[in-house]
Amino acid sequence: MELEPKSSTRSRKSCINFMFWPWKSLYIDGYVNVDGNPICECYSCYGGIDCSLFSSNCSANVESGDPLFLEPFWMQNADSSAVVVAGWHRMSYVFPNNQSFISKELEKSIRKIHAIAKNAITYGKYIIFGTGSTQLLHAAGHALYMDNNYSTKVVANKIPYYSLYKLQTEYFQTRHCEFGGDSSMLKNNSDFAGNVIEFVTSPNNPDGSLDSPVLNGPNVKHIYDHAYYWSHYTAIPAPADEDLMIFSMSKLTGHAGSRFGWAIVKDVNVYTRMMEFIDLAEMGTSKDVQLRALTLLKVVAQGGGKQLFNFAQQILTDRWKKVSHIFSLTKRFSLQTIPTQYCTFFERTREPSPEIGVALMATYAWVKCKRTEDKNCQEVFRVAKIIGRSSRAFYAGDCYVRFSLVMDQQDFDMLIHRLKELISQEYEASAQYMSI
Ligand SMILES: Cc1ncc(COP(=O)(O)O)c(C=O)c1O
Repeated sequence: MELEPKSSTRSRKSCINFMFWPWKSLYIDGYVNVDGNPICECYSCYGGIDCSLFSSNCSANVESGDPLFLEPFWMQNADSSAVVVAGWHRMSYVFPNNQSFISKELEKSIRKIHAIAKNAITYGKYIIFGTGSTQLLHAAGHALYMDNNYSTKVVANKIPYYSLYKLQTEYFQTRHCEFGGDSSMLKNNSDFAGNVIEFVTSPNNPDGSLDSPVLNGPNVKHIYDHAYYWSHYTAIPAPADEDLMIFSMSKLTGHAGSRFGWAIVKDVNVYTRMMEFIDLAEMGTSKDVQLRALTLLKVVAQGGGKQLFNFAQQILTDRWKKVSHIFSLTKRFSLQTIPTQYCTFFERTREPSPEIGVALMATYAWVKCKRTEDKNCQEVFRVAKIIGRSSRAFYAGDCYVRFSLVMDQQDFDMLIHRLKELISQEYEASAQYMSI
């Protein structure tokens, strides 16, 4: 790797934290040097002992959906969001008053956040905690499958879809239960008379569309993956009120590392089966994580939730505008369109921006390579030093690539830089018009 010196206040991650935090030794959980002091954690493209070496040759890595764009919000709210747990606290498997695995205060906070965000109706429904929504998706599939005593097909709503549904179903193979691709396969197959579990991802990962079930009927059950149904990522046209909905703290607050999610469930039998699953798999969810989730959600709820939701929405709207503008200058690639919708949280329609047509915001840019010779879109961008996730990972062939817009600012800036380089190659003459 070619490294050049460059002084930048944004080159270091943890070193910056340590300047603000007097008790830096609390965070010695990464690499340490021979003296036992933490080694600086550098942003991408920076290296060296104090992260001051910048690699001008480096690729923009926008492959992962790690929502680090929210890190600055939590730096601004470092005191109120800090959790210090004394050694004696919550040592038991259960909360003492009701012998339950679940913090009632956290459950109340979750109901409150949904009421504030206007994105889900929790009244009259049960709440289950899990180790990330990843575990709850598995628990939900299992609970619904247990209701059926013969052949069940598990399908994803549409292509492109989030790979976990297929991977989990196939990895944790259960008798009489198999993955059947996307819903259209069954819609066009009038011979199939068995039970169906349909995953509906709304907004969809990767393309951000707000989707509804494709299959309906007495033998079809739905699992709504609402990981991105927050006003940072989409308009909220109405609160979701489905029978089985799954949310994730990873995408609400950005704390993917804490591994916390929750399901909102209407039917008591499904609730009981999911609880059984969590109890058998994990004996409940970590009390430390529940305490952290409670602390974070209290910060989110302050001032009617406006602080975090505004912060997140502004960053993603700005990023979407920049990316959309760049893609409006090319004929070689195209970007998904996201229709404007009324958002009940912000109480306004996200207006189209005049310079780029439809502007809203998105979690991911879903980019199509339009030239027939660009057969592998991920590869086209890799050569241009942009690392995205291939559409193959979403069962959608090779013609698309997904770029994450939720990474930290450093990665996003590098993405814009590399995109400009690539697209100005196509339009050398009009490069001067790219004024971002
Ligand atoms: C649609 C969707 N559902 C679920 C998850 C998993 O989230 P968690 O971190 O809560 O396990 C992701 C992660 O990217 C996702 O994109």
